[in-house]
Amino acid sequence: MKAMSLDNIVGDYQSFTLHHDDGSERLVYVTDIETIVPDGRLIVSRTDLQGLITHVNTSFIDMSGYLEEELIGSPHSILRHPDMPAAAFKDLWDTVQQGRKWHGYVKNLRQDGGYYWVYATVIPNIRQGKLIGYTSVRRKTSRNHVSAAEELYRSMQ
Ligand SMILES: Cc1cc2nc3c(=O)[nH]c(=O)nc-3n(C[C@H](O)[C@H](O)[C@H](O)COP(=O)(O)O)c2cc1C
Repeated sequence: MKAMSLDNIVGDYQSFTLHHDDGSERLVYVTDIETIVPDGRLIVSRTDLQGLITHVNTSFIDMSGYLEEELIGSPHSILRHPDMPAAAFKDLWDTVQQGRKWHGYVKNLRQDGGYYWVYATVIPNIRQGKLIGYTSVRRKTSRNHVSAAEELYRSMQ
């Protein structure tokens, strides 16, 4: 996964060390600059069974701030924001690994240290009865849903 670089950070930032599920750590830089997802835009990615990114659309690239070649082959946790509780992602993985759809609100971290809120739908991809990977389609969410998710995730931390 590409390391965050201070050269790319825009604005005042704070540093955090994220502890990933696989035991690894990542130093991230976080600003309080929000990018609002444009109305009607769908931010799409596909992953393999391990959660490594295999496909991204242009909106995904634009919102994340990374290059396509930096995203393909990386885990989705390249976008993980320190405000997101691990339990939210555990629920996502428990649900999709059972072959079910997951919906939820996610705060994602951009390469420039800013963030964007999305409403995400994660779908298991099943071919000839076999689970082969996952697709996530994200869209803009309302301010009310963002406020509710912020409060919930703060209480879960
Ligand atoms: C299809 C799919 C899409 C995902 N999209 C995101 C995402 O946009 N942002 C994110 O932080 N995690 C996303 N995840 C969850 C990550 O795989 C991971 O569980 C999460 O970032 C926490 O990772 P960590 O425990 O390794 O830090 C997605 C997972 C799947 C299967």
